Amino acid sequence: MKRIGVLLGGLSSERDISLRTGEAVVEALRGRGHDVVPVYVDRDLDRALRAAPIDVAFLALHGRYGEDGCVQGLLECMGIPYTGSGVLSSALAMDKLKAKELFRLHNVPTAPYYAIEGSLTNAELETQHGSFGFPVVVKPRREGSSIGISRANSFEELRVAVDAARKHDDGVLVERYIKGREVHVGILNGRVLGAIEVVPKRPMFDFQAKYTKGMTEYFYPARLAPTRYQGVLRLAERAAQSLGCTGAVRVDMIVTEGENEYVLEVNTTPGLTPTSLLPKIAAGAGIDFASLCEEILSTARLTYGVAKSNAARSAVAEA
Ligand SMILES: Nc1ncnc2c1ncn2[C@@H]1O[C@H](COP(=O)(O)OP(=O)(O)O)[C@@H](O)[C@H]1O
Ligand SMILES: [Mg+2]
Repeated sequence: MKRIGVLLGGLSSERDISLRTGEAVVEALRGRGHDVVPVYVDRDLDRALRAAPIDVAFLALHGRYGEDGCVQGLLECMGIPYTGSGVLSSALAMDKLKAKELFRLHNVPTAPYYAIEGSLTNAELETQHGSFGFPVVVKPRREGSSIGISRANSFEELRVAVDAARKHDDGVLVERYIKGREVHVGILNGRVLGAIEVVPKRPMFDFQAKYTKGMTEYFYPARLAPTRYQGVLRLAERAAQSLGCTGAVRVDMIVTEGENEYVLEVNTTPGLTPTSLLPKIAAGAGIDFASLCEEILSTARLTYGVAKSNAARSAVAEA
């Protein structure tokens, strides 16, 4: 029997969410009789992996180093197959600027935006903002869980929002605020499962709305006319394909009152906590939580085809 390591924790600001995701996965896979060990990730991941040799890595890490290709690259080098997207797709999806550039290349509609790198004086910010207008949503380039995101309705608020986002990333995106309904689409191993609509009791789907029970209403399937619903699913599929994402994927979108849909982002290690969206979507599609975890597990592989061999493993162990 293969020993599965569920990698959880990590170094990002989403560490606590990752712990919740990882613990839920460990319990579910053990319940199905798998040989599972939690691998708590901190600065010394390769030591943690040497201490608890595993055959397969189930990635329950969110954010930097865990969702952005870094851990994926280490596992490639160690020859340990891992769940989810490969190195390049993980990195592209985590970087909202690069993802948006690819969306545009592939005609995937996304909110108009501009990017800021480094610190700007008020005058520089004013010049860069130019006639972009308000309201806008300001977000760090590489974060998750709505961390560092805020809405700005005026230049003064923009200044505050940019400074807040820069606490998390040197790179910041300023996007046009899209008024509409928020819909998230789940994709599992290339199969589009469905779309859930989220209605937060707060102005945006922020950290509290995401992780506090009762702060958000969920509608599955999303309340859209059948043809539009299908269009939303196809658009999410194209968004994931434009970045080359595989395994479990969640695509965040906003659909307007009119005809338009905008892709916000593609998540390559979607949360699997009790309040997370992918498990809700999967449940709606008839897939219970343990089966979802097993299906994700079945995608574990190496993108670059480095054969996992005992020789490679012992070379790592001796190093
Ligand atoms: N351009 C936008 N217009 C309106 N709301 C937005 C926009 N961008 C983000 N949001 C809100 O902020 C939330 C988080 O944004 P998102 O881009 O998905 O980043 P994260 O990686 O933190 O989830 C969204 O779920 C949505 O509620
Ligand atoms: Mg999101």
